[in-house]
Amino acid sequence: MSFNVIQYENLPEDLERRLQEHCRVTRFDSLNPAQGEPFVSALADAHGLIGVNQEVGAELLDLAPNLRVASTISVGYDHFDVAELTGRGVMLMHTPEVLTETTADMIFTLILCTARRAAELHEMTRQGLWQAAVGAEHFGRDVHGKTLGIVGLGRIGTAVARRGRLGFNMNILYHNRTRSVEAEKQIGARYCSLDELLADSDFVCLVVPLSDQTRKLISREELGKMKPEAYLINGGRGPVVDEQALIEALENGVIAGAGLDVYEQEPLPTDSPLLRLANAVTLPHIGSATHETRYAMAELAVDNLLAALQDRSTRNCVNPEVVG
Ligand code: DGY
Repeated sequence: MSFNVIQYENLPEDLERRLQEHCRVTRFDSLNPAQGEPFVSALADAHGLIGVNQEVGAELLDLAPNLRVASTISVGYDHFDVAELTGRGVMLMHTPEVLTETTADMIFTLILCTARRAAELHEMTRQGLWQAAVGAEHFGRDVHGKTLGIVGLGRIGTAVARRGRLGFNMNILYHNRTRSVEAEKQIGARYCSLDELLADSDFVCLVVPLSDQTRKLISREELGKMKPEAYLINGGRGPVVDEQALIEALENGVIAGAGLDVYEQEPLPTDSPLLRLANAVTLPHIGSATHETRYAMAELAVDNLLAALQDRSTRNCVNPEVVG
């Protein structure tokens, strides 16, 4: 058995066994060197890492001179310093595709839930406050037939657009780094500038990864360009939105509401004003969180790790240039 691997996230038992058949696996709860000598010495010998949601940068990599592959159980990899990994010849593997449809389902849940005020009115019912037929003060807004603006028409964005177009007869706008001829043909999506998308959409749906270009992409100015009856949906990464600006926009009626699965700080602090706002739906980062999809992601992350360690396979590799 030639590879040492640090596992820093629970895996289904059968996958853990598969990993152990091929590697010497040491299990830790995090990648924090402060957890002590056993971790630091395992890290010094590690050829592979597998887990999720831990920062990996120069400081940690300095302690891992033998590292060859890091396999994250996520499609997003903003918690990795990719330039540092690449500079040191470490392959970074991630799990695209297997979570696309599940995450799109969740984003559509946010669209429906904000527009129809489902969470807020569910709470009203539970509290015994439903004592007469609801009146206009509890009405929501239609989703079908409205304009859905997708910022980031990648795999997940396209799956959301497809739901909107085919299921809800929505008019689809999108803004992206590159145009998607395929989406334009298949679902009639129309490419436009971010400003145009903000001004014309009833639902502005963010599905972009976090990068220097997308951090605070939506701030006070951009929120001010949205229609007052429009909703902001964020299923990508929290820091893409200036959260304080969003809170103020929700408090002051600049926009009608927000459906959020991601936040600047996660878990969302319990004193966040977002939790007190009736027009904000706040989910705990559950985009891919179904039994089926989380298993598929874990399985793919194990496969990615083994294939990269054993064969230097670049399938699902973020920085294939390391091998080339
Ligand atoms: C991802 O895979 O990046 C999702 O956000 C779940 O972490």
